[in-house]
Amino acid sequence: MNHNILHSNMKIVIDCDDAALALKKTIVSHLESRGVEVTDLDYLGSRPGAFYPEIGYNLALKIQDGSFSRGILICGTGLGMAMIANKVEGVYAGVCHDVYSAERLRKSNDAQILTMGARVIGSELAKTIVDAWLESEFQGGGSQPKVDQMRMLEKESFLKAKAQ
Ligand code: RB5
Repeated sequence: MNHNILHSNMKIVIDCDDAALALKKTIVSHLESRGVEVTDLDYLGSRPGAFYPEIGYNLALKIQDGSFSRGILICGTGLGMAMIANKVEGVYAGVCHDVYSAERLRKSNDAQILTMGARVIGSELAKTIVDAWLESEFQGGGSQPKVDQMRMLEKESFLKAKAQ
């Protein structure tokens, strides 16, 4: 694996809902032990009882406004977090519970947010998935026109919604 991608200006942010507090802690410690700086938004700390949509939305907005370049969202399944993050214009997220998908999420799909389910995978696999995702970058090439098309269709959809 190429470890050079973990450059210092990569700003990483993380958060989770009540189903994933232990896994989030594990991932934060793992990243810190690798010397990777990560900001834990800890939305639940200030708003106990918050549901995954507002937690995921809060993080996705920070990707949208450029405060962070990459984000990790963890809930019970990873599904709800991916769904809400993808509702934020210009933000792309995918659920990964295997290493190959985590690599492709960056290399082919250019997604900024990785989501995982704490009730689906164990902590060792989650750490390996995070590493694979962090060490992968968008490759362009044949994936570029596909990602461009996704952005174009997204714009069309948001414009339609705004016009209504
Ligand atoms: C629990 O609230 C569960 O619904 C949530 O963590 C997540 O799995 C949703 O997709």
